[in-house]
Amino acid sequence: MYQAPRGTYDLLPPAIKLWQKIEHTAQTIAQLYGYEEVRTPIFEATDLFTRSVGGESDIVQKEMYTFSDRGQRSLTLRPEGTAPLARAYIAQKKYAFNTTTKWFYQGPMFRYERPQADRYRQFMQFGVEAFGTRGIFADAEVIALGYRYLENLGLTNLTVLLNNIGDLSSRQKYNQALRDYLTPYSRVLSTIEQTRLQTNPLRILDSKNKETQALLQKAPSLHNYLTSEDRNQLEQLADQLEHLGIAYKITDRLVRGLDYYNATAFEYQHENHQNVLGGGGRYDGLIEMMGGPSTPAIGFGLGLDRIVNLLDINPEDETTRPLCYLILLEPGVYSAGLKIADELRGQQLATVVDYQLQKIKSKLKKAIASKATFALILGPDELQEHSIQVKHLIAQRQVKIKLTELVRYLKDQC
Ligand code: HAM
Repeated sequence: MYQAPRGTYDLLPPAIKLWQKIEHTAQTIAQLYGYEEVRTPIFEATDLFTRSVGGESDIVQKEMYTFSDRGQRSLTLRPEGTAPLARAYIAQKKYAFNTTTKWFYQGPMFRYERPQADRYRQFMQFGVEAFGTRGIFADAEVIALGYRYLENLGLTNLTVLLNNIGDLSSRQKYNQALRDYLTPYSRVLSTIEQTRLQTNPLRILDSKNKETQALLQKAPSLHNYLTSEDRNQLEQLADQLEHLGIAYKITDRLVRGLDYYNATAFEYQHENHQNVLGGGGRYDGLIEMMGGPSTPAIGFGLGLDRIVNLLDINPEDETTRPLCYLILLEPGVYSAGLKIADELRGQQLATVVDYQLQKIKSKLKKAIASKATFALILGPDELQEHSIQVKHLIAQRQVKIKLTELVRYLKDQC
């Protein structure tokens, strides 16, 4: 027996209805904020991610699905959406128009992670990227978009975790301060953290290790190493979130796991959830680093699998029901039934046809189970008279209708 690969799962009815709902809501809200949808390839040149997400990140170090194609090119299943969109933005020379480009995307991402609750190897993200925008009002809008989206899905008790991680020079100074502070305690750190102590101590801040977290209580704060401009920006951005009624919490521990970020960084947290629902931030240096002109940008990615798991919606309530369930009494009328159903669907009347050889009683039971409004019953007598029986499954009424009148009759009734 084949199983879905580890860390992946099949999405089947009725759960798929929830997915259609959250994807549709994402599209609607992104468009309300002026974002247009883009779709980039599922795989990209490996180098795109190595350079942008960063060689020290978990993603590049151990989570990428990388393979060589038959032309010996190294390709990687996309672990995230920002680098591919930045690539497309540069390739299309969108910067040449000197306007803001606002794009959104939804689709599967791939990371070789240890599967556990809410952590998959294939997962869905809804993300937005605003290229060419600068300043805290743009930041507040992007953060609000993600927050309103989650609210729209009925989620409450949401908090935006907010930080400013400064520019490269602030982070370098802070990294050194953190290294100086942690080095005497390096025995307490895990092997990975000991390596990070040398390469990028900042990444130790989001350690899950309890002893490390205890050590960090007295560690220097990133905020003391920010420029006064970055500190002001953080405060002003917080004021705007307040102004919009968005619950937030400033935390100097939030650093994000991808290398391209600078200044504003944020995550969406739900109180019933230990993992964050999504995160993002500014990446003002990425476009230039990838070969485009210097272009400020900000965006976020939300993990849809995590969001679906939190929704308190019964997928059965979202399920669309057929309007008509067509019961064909014997094989001699199958061909006529096929044609009638085709015509009904052509008139936007959803119809399911039952071609099984069964007694009418069982077929009526199936019609009721399908939650259709009407059972249409066609036998040789009806066919000869060019008519059909229409049974209202709720009102329990039955009438014989001329086939030429059927569409009008059904439309009048619904
Ligand atoms: P990220 O924080 O790596 O950021 O991922 C964003 C969200 O994707 C996470 O908060 C989580 O909800 C979801 N996610 C990540 N890994 C998994 C997994 N293995 N299973 C289930 N869900 C997962 C980014 O990807 C950035 N590209 C976001 C961004 C866009 N920044 C600027 N623009």
